[in-house]
Amino acid sequence: MRIDILTIFPQLFEAPFGFGIFKRAIDNGLVQINPVNIRDYAHDKHHTTDDYPYGGGAGMVMKPQPIFEAVEDIKNKLDDKGASLPVILLTPQGRLFSHKIAVELSQHPHIVLICGHYEGVDERVVEHLATDAISIGDYVLTGGEVPAMVVADAVLRLVPGVLGSEESPLDDSHASGLLEYPQYTRPPEYRGWQVPEILLSGHHAQIAKWRREQIIKRTLEMRPELLDKADLGQEDKRLVKRMMHTDKKD
Ligand code: ADE
Repeated sequence: MRIDILTIFPQLFEAPFGFGIFKRAIDNGLVQINPVNIRDYAHDKHHTTDDYPYGGGAGMVMKPQPIFEAVEDIKNKLDDKGASLPVILLTPQGRLFSHKIAVELSQHPHIVLICGHYEGVDERVVEHLATDAISIGDYVLTGGEVPAMVVADAVLRLVPGVLGSEESPLDDSHASGLLEYPQYTRPPEYRGWQVPEILLSGHHAQIAKWRREQIIKRTLEMRPELLDKADLGQEDKRLVKRMMHTDKKD
């Protein structure tokens, strides 16, 4: 899978994808991260990418021209001229990013991410160039670079072969719509805190049952709204009822 990232700070993307899992995936040719400097597409001698907002107000707005031409340059080099290429603007005005959207994007062989800056991006980019707009949360960052890293990380780790088979994305928190169960490793006792006995027992069925209970318990405690949307079986529903009941008695 290939991700082109349009940014005024292309060097920012060297570190996050230059180590560990992503370095291995890039070296193996499974994924390609291609930062594109928006400034290279500005026509004036100062390579200007921003300008004052029409109507006044604080801050600067990103000009449409360098962004349009950067995307068109990418599309023109593709066999289908980018007919089905997702072009995604990172902005606090976008739809809220989620595991589901990461799965959806990971099924494309190629996507483009546009990092907004300053007070925003000229609306014509939103209306006539981007096919989608994504926000990573209800807070405002200084630019779209960190959100682009978040989206690229969440998407690329789902590409088959990027994670080793022992690091399955199927067990992730949110993959099932619920949070993940707690994990422990050696030693069995650390500073007097014990690993739950059941995990040392070797009883696979009981361990699976304990983990399911923990998934429900943790989701109920931390993100109860996820349980409303989740596809729960009879046993899970009984567990939720029991835990809510126990809670009330405490
Ligand atoms: N740019 C600034 N804040 C952002 C956010 N929360 N999500 C996506 N892009 C952004």
